[in-house]
Amino acid sequence: MNLLSIQNLTVRYPRPGGQLLEALKTVSLHVEAGESMGIVGESGSGKSTLAKAIVGLVRPHSGQILYEGVELSRRTHAEREACCRRVQMVFQDAIGSLNPRMTVAAMLEEVLRVHRITNSEESLGTRKDSAFASEVLHLLDQVGLPPEVARAYPRELSGGQCQRVSLARCLALGPRVLVADEPVSALDVSVQARVLNLLRELQQRLGLALLLVSHDLAVVRTVCDRVCVLRDGVIVEQGRVVDVLERPSHPYTRELLAAVPDVGRGLAGREQGSVISVQ
Ligand SMILES: Nc1ncnc2c1ncn2[C@@H]1O[C@H](COP(=O)(O)OP(=O)(O)OP(=O)(O)O)[C@@H](O)[C@H]1O
Ligand SMILES: [Mg+2]
Repeated sequence: MNLLSIQNLTVRYPRPGGQLLEALKTVSLHVEAGESMGIVGESGSGKSTLAKAIVGLVRPHSGQILYEGVELSRRTHAEREACCRRVQMVFQDAIGSLNPRMTVAAMLEEVLRVHRITNSEESLGTRKDSAFASEVLHLLDQVGLPPEVARAYPRELSGGQCQRVSLARCLALGPRVLVADEPVSALDVSVQARVLNLLRELQQRLGLALLLVSHDLAVVRTVCDRVCVLRDGVIVEQGRVVDVLERPSHPYTRELLAAVPDVGRGLAGREQGSVISVQ
């Protein structure tokens, strides 16, 4: 049974004049625990729409999203809430996704409290603040941040640190699927590789399924096991990264690859500032 399975997903957006734009057209894919899937394609191909549909930020026109083999709409309310916690999203704009008025510790504690209440493991008030404090430090440690960061506000952190905090916030919810939409494209080139390595390491250590949206083939080459190539809302090709990026069968994939001849090097060379991307 697939951990997450998307079947014939179609998403339509209203257009001025009453027309509809079909941003995704009968898209199907699946991802397993411990596996990472890249979603690539040029700007406007529907990558973010797919990511948002998976986490419920965009309502599909038709098709199904199955978590552990069961469609969300067929689950009870409580089950649906539990599934939603298991599927978390990391955004491109890390700093913008954090509450500017809360310290990192307050943000993470809030997530932990809500999680505990809805899980009915322990109710608000019965859990000692010190227990939350140590969980916060553990979360920060998991994403490679020092304990001092707990007292900081988002504006006091770098873009890379903010992205690590938003990853910690996802981890607080005990996810099984992480959907990351261009998680490093807003970051300095010099920190991109480190954040991607962290993402890969967490995905493997925690056995997460990772859906990584990127217009950057070198990122996908470095981080992902499989890749699907989107064009105008249609998956034109999907398969193992080594197959698709080394022996593409679709002309569109060949076109994307032709624009980045050194994609085979993955992220090697990024530290020298060579950004490899298609857009
Ligand atoms: N909220 C919206 N309302 C109307 N149209 C939208 C909306 N969001 C996206 N679109 C359109 O849907 C199509 C797919 O957009 P999407 O943002 O999914 O592309 P993308 O592959 O993520 O692009 P990029 O690489 O630029 O982020 C585009 O034509 C876009 O203009
Ligand atoms: Mg996008």
